Amino acid sequence: MSEVETKPAVLILLGPPGAGKGTQARMLEERFGLVQLSTGDMLRAAVAAGTPAGLAAKAVMEAGGLVSDEIVLGILRERLAAPDLKAGVILDGFPRTAGQAEALDKLLAYNGQRVTAAISLEVDDEAMIARVAGRYTCAACGEGYHDQFKLPAVAGTCDKCGGTEFKRRADDNAETARARLEAYHAQTAPLIAHYGRLGVLETIDAMDSIDAVASGLGSIVQRVSA
Ligand code: AP5
Repeated sequence: MSEVETKPAVLILLGPPGAGKGTQARMLEERFGLVQLSTGDMLRAAVAAGTPAGLAAKAVMEAGGLVSDEIVLGILRERLAAPDLKAGVILDGFPRTAGQAEALDKLLAYNGQRVTAAISLEVDDEAMIARVAGRYTCAACGEGYHDQFKLPAVAGTCDKCGGTEFKRRADDNAETARARLEAYHAQTAPLIAHYGRLGVLETIDAMDSIDAVASGLGSIVQRVSA
């Protein structure tokens, strides 16, 4: 009997800055063996490495705007072609414009795939400023923390890798966070309707605790992957 070929899941996490996309994507990675692809992380790596894409993106990111579709798609296409994505991917922070959504649909169709689910993390704008302003990460492994909502079990030591160095993002201040929220509402929120029309939209109340949101997302992932 021939085996039925299953296509890797393609999950999109949609939501404004601070909604919990990165936090939840990492939890889904561990639970389901999916791979988190964060365009924000890829762009920050390009900035740190001083690549041409990074040099072009730096000022835009510092101002809280959106990097051009051309740069983002160039970086993502390369990563999507890597061979470690068999179980599927969680797209964190991509797509963010109509052009990126269209390019993704085309890219997947070319490989006989489609978006499995686009999950919109629904949150309150003002609370997002506090979430972003209190965020920090482990410098060694990237595990995310928050001054108020997610502290390491032992103060000053990363729960995941034992690292003792932490860092904060240059764009995590109230002023830039507001610019990022504006960019989200103007250019990314309209994608919610796009995925509604495609019949793959899911929504979740992301004002709940990190664990409660993770549990709800886990149920969605199990249902859409069945
Ligand atoms: P990116 O890195 O994608 O940032 P973002 O979308 O602004 O999202 P964040 O990383 O700020 O938030 P998150 O939703 O991941 O929240 P997190 O889980 O960390 O993009 C940065 C920049 O790169 C953009 O501004 C743009 O310039 C550029 N860029 C990236 N992708 C692009 C694209 N596709 N096109 C064009 N430009 C692009 O959580 C935040 C904090 O809250 C953490 O401390 C966490 O512990 C805490 N927290 C999480 N969930 C909860 C909860 N339920 N309750 C309480 N606290 C919580």
